[in-house]
Amino acid sequence: MSIPAPAEQPSIAAGEKVLELKDVSKSFGSVIALRDISMHVESGSVTCVLGDNGAGKSTLIKVLSGVHQQSSGVYTVGGEEVTLNSPRDALSLGIATVYQDLATVPLMSVWRNFFLGSEPTSGFGPLRRLNVKKAKEIARAELLQMGIDIRDVDQPVGTLSGGERQAVAIARAVYFGAKVLILDEPTSALGVKQSGVVLKYIVQAKERGVAVIFITHNPHHAYLVGDRFFLLNRGRMIENWERSEVDLDALVTAMAGGAELEALAHELESLGGPTEAAAEEVAGTVGPEEAPRSGPDGSPQA
Ligand SMILES: Nc1ncnc2c1ncn2[C@@H]1O[C@H](COP(=O)(O)OP(=O)(O)O)[C@@H](O)[C@H]1O
Ligand SMILES: [Mg+2]
Repeated sequence: MSIPAPAEQPSIAAGEKVLELKDVSKSFGSVIALRDISMHVESGSVTCVLGDNGAGKSTLIKVLSGVHQQSSGVYTVGGEEVTLNSPRDALSLGIATVYQDLATVPLMSVWRNFFLGSEPTSGFGPLRRLNVKKAKEIARAELLQMGIDIRDVDQPVGTLSGGERQAVAIARAVYFGAKVLILDEPTSALGVKQSGVVLKYIVQAKERGVAVIFITHNPHHAYLVGDRFFLLNRGRMIENWERSEVDLDALVTAMAGGAELEALAHELESLGGPTEAAAEEVAGTVGPEEAPRSGPDGSPQA
């Protein structure tokens, strides 16, 4: 019987630089999606990449995961320069990506989703058969180890909550030995509670030595789990903070667009919008989610 290669349990020491970009740019024709990006990620830590829509987050992930090749700059994995021609190349180096909607197949059972084509088999040649019992046991045990208790792994993944579905995809990547786990906005379609579920698995993966890259535009979610924070703005990496160098307010303000938002508030004021006090309030303190369209009480302030 052959069992699919389980992750050689924490063989990676925490704090090791596993992946690095140096001056990486990516253009699509005349559109420059990424400009001179330099960043690195470490094992056993959560690296957050924050940025507004169009900042270049997905492009960055696609370069890291082998979907796109950079136009210039150097990409190194474990200290070696690499050229990734496909997501399969990335996976073979231990770089796994969980895309929000494509992470699991809804009509397929939980255990099948866990293995997705890499199921353990028994016997050889024409006698080779899928070892269903073993596969179910492994899926259930692995999910349990990540803290997710699914009594019936035969149930379709579609019956799980959004957070649990992401968890199955994360547990699978960890089991199959991901050294780097890239999550593209895993919480953006989820409510508060389900987001909490996903954030918990991000921390579990980190505890198992994985370098997690967490893409989000939610500074609150980032702050709950992040060890390092990169901020992308119009294709440029404009901030690189260690956790000790930043607080939630700074992240919220950075994501709210700081100076840009202030300028906008004053422009709206000149068009007959809310007063200067409201403009200052918005520019100074309010995050993207809470940003009111009018005054805090629902009407323009006097
Ligand atoms: N395949 C592509 N062809 C042309 N332009 C693209 C392509 N992918 C992304 N872009 C452009 O690159 C910029 C960054 O996009 P993207 O990486 O999707 O940002 P984000 O994920 O942060 O919202 C946008 O201006 C987008 O239109
Ligand atoms: Mg995107």
